[in-house]
Amino acid sequence: MTGQKGEGEPVCPLTLGYDFYRDPQPVYRAIKKDGDKPTEVTLETGMAYIPPNLKAWLVTSYEDVEFVLRDPRFRKSIDEAMPLFAANTPGGGQAQARSSLLYDNMANNDPPTHTALRKPLNGAFTSRAVAPKRQVMEELAASALDAVAGNAAFDLVQDFAFPYSISVICDTLGVPQDDRRTFHDWVQTITGEAEPEVLRHDAGQMVAYLSGLIRQKRAWDAEDVLSLLARSLDEPQAVAQAYALLAAGYETTANLIVTGLLTLEADPEQKKRLWADRSLVPGAVEEMLRHQSPFNLSLYRYVTETAVVGGVEIPAGSIVFLAFAAANRDEARFSDPDDFAIDVPRREHLAFGGGIHNCIGKHLARLEAEVAFDTLIRRCPELAVLTPAEDMRWKASPTFRGLKNLLVGPGPLPAHLEAAC
Ligand code: HEM
Repeated sequence: MTGQKGEGEPVCPLTLGYDFYRDPQPVYRAIKKDGDKPTEVTLETGMAYIPPNLKAWLVTSYEDVEFVLRDPRFRKSIDEAMPLFAANTPGGGQAQARSSLLYDNMANNDPPTHTALRKPLNGAFTSRAVAPKRQVMEELAASALDAVAGNAAFDLVQDFAFPYSISVICDTLGVPQDDRRTFHDWVQTITGEAEPEVLRHDAGQMVAYLSGLIRQKRAWDAEDVLSLLARSLDEPQAVAQAYALLAAGYETTANLIVTGLLTLEADPEQKKRLWADRSLVPGAVEEMLRHQSPFNLSLYRYVTETAVVGGVEIPAGSIVFLAFAAANRDEARFSDPDDFAIDVPRREHLAFGGGIHNCIGKHLARLEAEVAFDTLIRRCPELAVLTPAEDMRWKASPTFRGLKNLLVGPGPLPAHLEAAC
């Protein structure tokens, strides 16, 4: 973080960069110490439609985040937001160069567009609809671990969390498993820090790929989620929705698995209890969601008229981000919020957002993370983190807080030895 006078004394505007992406909590603590009011910031790096050096407001307290989530003056409309991204970036930034039809989806639009786009999908992601997926998730988690069986060490991010969560989203949406690697690379470009030309190229590839898939789905008329989209929406809408589900649908869960393990590693007593009693897994996952908040900052909102939040005036036309990871550590809402307690999870967290844009995939994500930990505990009884903290490299993203690699070990025993034990 730059723009800070000293411990707990922020100056405006704060510039948020790699230190913040690695661990946002020192910035949030400084803002809290200063009264936990909406704060002006500059986001150093760009992502998807967001140009680098965007000036925006950060809303951090639980009460203010809840307020903004439900106040219609804080809007999402990708068409109206694009000129505002330019207006809030020194020199206009590269806002227009970053546009793509991929972003015209439910996550970036309010009603009536949002309602029309989300409605066809609601039934596919209820807890009842996702519960039967446990078995296939168990198979996918087992198969990711089989690939590293017998290894003294493996990369939890690249060998387990990503392959597993990508396979789950492919299975859910009806995307061919063989295409995993291709679209994963494009999603990483789009959601990370990339030059506009690279971004435009990969976004174009993604549009072409998803358009082809949606056309096939129209022809085959299957029962998966992409077929549902293909039947309910026109092609550009279906492509943008498919992108939203793919991009939001695996990286967050992968990051939850990885940062969840890191949190346990820092607390050997609770890790030991969890490894000894798998019935604690659902509570542990819930507390990981609050404590780690894989969706650090929300997607954008802009304010249509000057609005007062927590006593501070946010001028009309400002871009606003909700700091879910700050709200989830608000001591006005949670006692000892920095503590992590697997058997008393604080379920009223905002890790899945709230209001009309609350996460459509939350039941899928919870089940997926539960199956991941259940499988890791069964198959890797001695699992420990091997990468030293100073060697950990974090993604350059204000939203998706995650590691690029994490060496852990020992891997599971090969299947024939496991069966013998
Ligand atoms: C641990 C995993 C996950 C976390 C922490 C998470 C978090 C969130 C959050 C905070 C939002 C609201 C963003 C905002 O208001 O700006 C959101 C929205 C969304 N999430 Fe998730 N998510 C997760 C998994 C998933 C999965 C598995 C899917 C796909 C099935 C998914 C699809 C979406 C979509 C499409 C939206 C936009 C919803 C709308 O605007 O109506 N997410 N997610």
